[in-house]
Amino acid sequence: MSPSRGTIFLEQARVLSQLAYDAEQFVLRLAAPKCAAHAEPGSFVHLTCDGSIPMRRPLSIMRAHPGNGWIELLYKVVGAGLHALSARKAGDELSVLGPIGRPFVPHVERPRTLLLGGGVGIPPMVFLAERLGAHARDAGRADVNRASIQSWKPLVLMGSEVPFPFRARPSKIILPGMPAGTLACMPLLEEWGIPSRLASCHEYPGCYAGFVTELADAWLASLGSSELAEVEIFSCGPTPMLEASAVLARRYRVPCQVSLEEFMACAVGGCAGCTVRVLTPDGPAMKRVCVDGPVFDAYTVF
Ligand SMILES: Cc1cc2nc3c(=O)[nH]c(=O)nc-3n(C[C@H](O)[C@H](O)[C@H](O)COP(=O)(O)OP(=O)(O)OC[C@H]3O[C@@H](n4cnc5c(N)ncnc54)[C@H](O)[C@@H]3O)c2cc1C
Ligand code: FES
Repeated sequence: MSPSRGTIFLEQARVLSQLAYDAEQFVLRLAAPKCAAHAEPGSFVHLTCDGSIPMRRPLSIMRAHPGNGWIELLYKVVGAGLHALSARKAGDELSVLGPIGRPFVPHVERPRTLLLGGGVGIPPMVFLAERLGAHARDAGRADVNRASIQSWKPLVLMGSEVPFPFRARPSKIILPGMPAGTLACMPLLEEWGIPSRLASCHEYPGCYAGFVTELADAWLASLGSSELAEVEIFSCGPTPMLEASAVLARRYRVPCQVSLEEFMACAVGGCAGCTVRVLTPDGPAMKRVCVDGPVFDAYTVF
């Protein structure tokens, strides 16, 4: 995965499907071939929701299929913009700017990737898991040079305080270090052979009753020092969850990348409306979340 922010394309994207889930959550699939070809886990699009809504809205890319030219987004309606987007039907067209932003960059020396997604922070984690899982599957094939392919061991933990935007089911993948009864998983990840577990303070069946970072803490505490030396954390979700992820990372002395959210006007680096304070080797500096991020080293932000 490339650390560079890459080229941003402007495409007239066609709606292929729009599926509705509980709590005004939607999964939108768009035909956007240029964006699909260049999207990376952590990158996002800035799209027009409807002709009646003047400003674009930023949404993370959850999946991208370069071969078939589609991208998938998961969003939860907040206000007028995403409400208008939820009314778009298959065949409608909307303007998409993307892919935007610096993606997550996993490190080969840390194959135990711990992916934490909270609420609408889930999408980039599904994307990252899919890409890491594909590498791991390639490593198992006889016809490829295994030495050149990293075998990742992703674990995805997700938290939500509204029903998850998929039908959770008990996992068949055994996962040491999980609290008793924490069995619910995301079926799509399970199909890809990637372990996942769910957390919610709402005590949904099979979910860990508490925050996703507490579940992560339980898993990290179960690891030995040589296993911990292979862990890297990737986190996307509300700011308190990102802060808790950074605290965990510090406690277990593992690296951590977080994806930040800020209000965005242009989303292409021109208006400086999305800046955050980041620690750089030259001291504190203001960085634009849209193009210098949205992914940052957690230790430089928190
Ligand atoms: C990089 C990035 C990725 C995101 N990915 C997702 C995602 O995958 N799924 C998802 O559901 N949401 C995501 N969001 C949040 C989403 O952009 C906002 O919830 C959305 O813009 C709200 O628009 P609205 O019209 O429904 O709400 P309104 O409240 O009517 O929006 C009013 C204005 O505020 C801005 N705004 C409101 N909330 C946010 C916010 N949290 N972040 C940035 N701008 C905001 C809108 O762009 C708009 O200009 C992401 C935000 C960022 C910055
Ligand atoms: S939103 Fe304009 S610089 Fe980031």
